[in-house]
Amino acid sequence: MTNNTAIIIEPDAMTLARKGAELFAQNARESAHLRGRFVVAISGGSTPRLMHRLLCREPHLSKIPWSKTHIFWVDERCVPQDHEVSNYGAARDDFLSGVSIPEEQVHPMPVHVSPEKGALAYQGELVRFFQPGNMKIPVLDLIFLGLGTDGHTASLFPGQSALADEEKLIVSVRGGKPDVSRMTMTFPLLNSGREIVFMVSGKNKARVLKTVFDEPEARLPVQKIQLLNGKLTWLLDRDAALLLTL
Ligand code: 6PG
Repeated sequence: MTNNTAIIIEPDAMTLARKGAELFAQNARESAHLRGRFVVAISGGSTPRLMHRLLCREPHLSKIPWSKTHIFWVDERCVPQDHEVSNYGAARDDFLSGVSIPEEQVHPMPVHVSPEKGALAYQGELVRFFQPGNMKIPVLDLIFLGLGTDGHTASLFPGQSALADEEKLIVSVRGGKPDVSRMTMTFPLLNSGREIVFMVSGKNKARVLKTVFDEPEARLPVQKIQLLNGKLTWLLDRDAALLLTL
């Protein structure tokens, strides 16, 4: 564990969501103050949904500078936006429809083209947005990640070639639950972020979390998250942290 890593253990899923919303608002204010905008990437899955629903309610709603906020997605399932497993669709229903964020500042991954074309198009969108310059990688202010019981994060699943991609920012993959085509940010992009917050909740994550912390040789995808300069926070609830000896 390096000194840019923090571990926060909350009593339950609700306090975890509240803490996540606080970290979101705090980074949003700091980024907007320092750089004039806040660029965040959010994940799918069930864990962030409670936090997302808090973002459009007080006390968080008015603390977040929505007019300066830009939302990107860490990963997306290639299904229509109204499908029940769409990450964009879930975020729209959970909070985007309830906040005053300009439409052009919401950047869903494109699902109306093939996953390969979508990945390329989203990479182009990131480059246009960040204008990072030759050979440079965009730097997101804040990235929320989840953890799967098999050690995946984003849609970077064990044993897939996407794990080794050092060139691309976004790749298309297939797998996970639901087992569908997906697009995902890659390790080089994620590892360039200013801050990553892992949100992990529930007893079913306790074993994999112990492996992540105690067995570097397990080489789980999530263990490839090693920020170049940023700050890493593990935001856990007590059930998920059950087997950790800290
Ligand atoms: C996705 C994700 C994925 C998720 C984990 C944890 O879209 O599937 O971004 O990486 O974060 O699978 O999911 P849960 O929160 O549902 O356990």
